[in-house]
Amino acid sequence: MKLSLALVAFFLPLIRAQVPHWGPCPEPAVQPAFTLKQFMGRWFEIAKLPAEFEKGRCIETNFTLKADNSIRVVSSEILKGELRKIEGIGVIEDLKNPAKLGISYSYVLPYSPYWILATDYVNSALVYSCTDVLRLFHVDFAWILSRTRTLPEAAIDKAREVFANNNIDVTRMIASRQQGCEKTL
Ligand SMILES: *[C@@H]1O[C@H](CO)[C@@H](O)[C@H](O)[C@H]1NC(C)=O
Repeated sequence: MKLSLALVAFFLPLIRAQVPHWGPCPEPAVQPAFTLKQFMGRWFEIAKLPAEFEKGRCIETNFTLKADNSIRVVSSEILKGELRKIEGIGVIEDLKNPAKLGISYSYVLPYSPYWILATDYVNSALVYSCTDVLRLFHVDFAWILSRTRTLPEAAIDKAREVFANNNIDVTRMIASRQQGCEKTL
C-alpha cells in the first residue's frame, strides 16, 4: 500500500503531462537488425507525443558511441531565446533486442525505454517510450525524428500509420517547431 502510494507520487508529474491510457504498455515491433552505429549522429525532432506547447523549439539530439559501447546523448533546444543542452547516457538494455535502448539524463534516475520502432538511418526514425504504472495504466512518449529539420508530409503520415498499426495512439501528436534555428549552428 505504502509502495503503491510512493509509486503514484513518483509518476504523478508524468501522468499530469497527458491522459494516461488504461492497461499495460503495447508491445510494438522494433527495427529488425538494428545497427546502433548507423543510428548515431544528429537527429531533429519533427513531431512528438504528448504535446508540450510551452516547451522549447529547434529540439535536436546528437548521439555518439563511446568506447565502452554506451551512448553519449546530447539534446538541445531553444527556450526563451536561449540554447539549452542536457546530456544523458544511452545503453542497449538487452543485446538480443538492440533496437530497445534505454536513456537516462541523471545518475539518480533509472533508464527510460527508448525503442527504435523503425529507421532507415539516413532519413527518419520512429521512437517510442512507454512506462507501465502498476500494470493498471501506462504513460507513453513517441517521437518522429529526421536527419533534416523537415520531413515530407507523406513521410510524417506514414510514420503516424506505423505507430497506429502498433496500437500506439498518436492522435494527439503535434509538430515540433524547427523554424528560425540557424543560431544553434
Ligand atoms: C555530436 O557529438 C560529437 C561528439 O561529441 C561532436 O564531435 C559533434 O560535433 C556533435 N555534432 C553536433 C551537430 O553537435
